[in-house]
Amino acid sequence: MPENSPQQHQPARPVVVYGATGHTGRFVVAELRGRGHRPVLSGRDPDKLAALAAEFGDLDVRPAPIDDPVALRRAFAGAAAVVNCAGPFTDTAGPVAAAAVHNRAHYLDVSAEQSPVRALHREADASARAAGVAVVPAAAFYGGLPDLLATAATTGWDSVDEITVAIGLDRWWPTEGTRVTGRRNTAPRLVVSEGRLTPAPTDPPPRSWAFPEPLGSRQVVGLPFSEIITIARHLPASVVRTYLDHTALQDIRDPNTPPPRATDGSGRSAQRFVVDVVARRGTEERRLSAGGRDIYAATAPIVVELLERLLDGRSTAVGAVAPGEVGPDALDALSPATLALTRWSPTS
Ligand SMILES: NC(=O)c1ccc[n+]([C@@H]2O[C@H](COP(=O)([O-])OP(=O)(O)OC[C@H]3O[C@@H](n4cnc5c(N)ncnc54)[C@H](OP(=O)(O)O)[C@@H]3O)[C@@H](O)[C@H]2O)c1
Repeated sequence: MPENSPQQHQPARPVVVYGATGHTGRFVVAELRGRGHRPVLSGRDPDKLAALAAEFGDLDVRPAPIDDPVALRRAFAGAAAVVNCAGPFTDTAGPVAAAAVHNRAHYLDVSAEQSPVRALHREADASARAAGVAVVPAAAFYGGLPDLLATAATTGWDSVDEITVAIGLDRWWPTEGTRVTGRRNTAPRLVVSEGRLTPAPTDPPPRSWAFPEPLGSRQVVGLPFSEIITIARHLPASVVRTYLDHTALQDIRDPNTPPPRATDGSGRSAQRFVVDVVARRGTEERRLSAGGRDIYAATAPIVVELLERLLDGRSTAVGAVAPGEVGPDALDALSPATLALTRWSPTS
């Protein structure tokens, strides 16, 4: 390398994890460490961040409150990417994404809420394009995983009549962040109907859904998450809807349901999930399912697989994009260590 090369004395630009001290943030930090990254820990609480850094041994800490744009910009200075795990994203997505893009850093988050994802698609696209970086909200279990499955299931189709997402969970032990987010997430939920985002039916009755094993036949209820917004961003579907396991819904509505409890050294709970995506075009139907354990733990490899594609140039996505636009191949990389994939079965 020539002596005056700009790269020669430049240390690798780090990944910053905002909200690193949360349940999901910790899984993301551990995933990054496991893959050889040295993430910088950020968030609003300097003491919690210092304690987490000490747990991991040698990580740098850059605290910044969400209502201080200058501190956020300083915390993300020199970063290659910022992964935002601090929710409700209604509060954090806008300021964290703005500070990331200001530093020409990619931005990814794990929002299950629809409104902040929609807002970033609308408001961060132009600035991200100008900065040459990607803004990828909802790169997680809700949002990202159904989006990746829908992307794979509709490959080669220039139009799609219907995409149905069914999320099966044997239990849902919610974190405090999930509970707070649920309470704050009062915006009308949206589905895609006639190719447009429209309000979802309120209080739809449960119906049964035949999931692949280990879940089998279960009651589900129409409840759309951020995948509706990401799928609508890039797939030409006339109808997109999501069903959630009725048991899981009862769990999160019950104030006595405990938080997730680790059942192995990695911190994963015993929760089992299956995400089933069925895509239809005319009489042709394709089904793709992904099953695994612990929706919070599974979020970490999903967001990090997408992040690494942006960092190493496998993805050249810029602007506000959906997970499936960054790395449609991320699904294969996640399987079988994280996800057991059942490949589509054409049924035309
Ligand atoms: N899409 C998905 O599949 C998916 C998966 C996992 C999580 N999530 C979402 O991710 C969020 C976090 O979940 P979690 O399970 O990690 O919850 P958690 O364990 O309660 O952690 C919440 C984190 O967010 C931080 N935070 C909250 N409000 C903040 C604010 N105003 N400013 C700065 N930091 C703030 C908290 O900081 P402190 O530590 O200082 O309190 C903490 O680090 C929730 O919105 C949840 O819905 C979505």
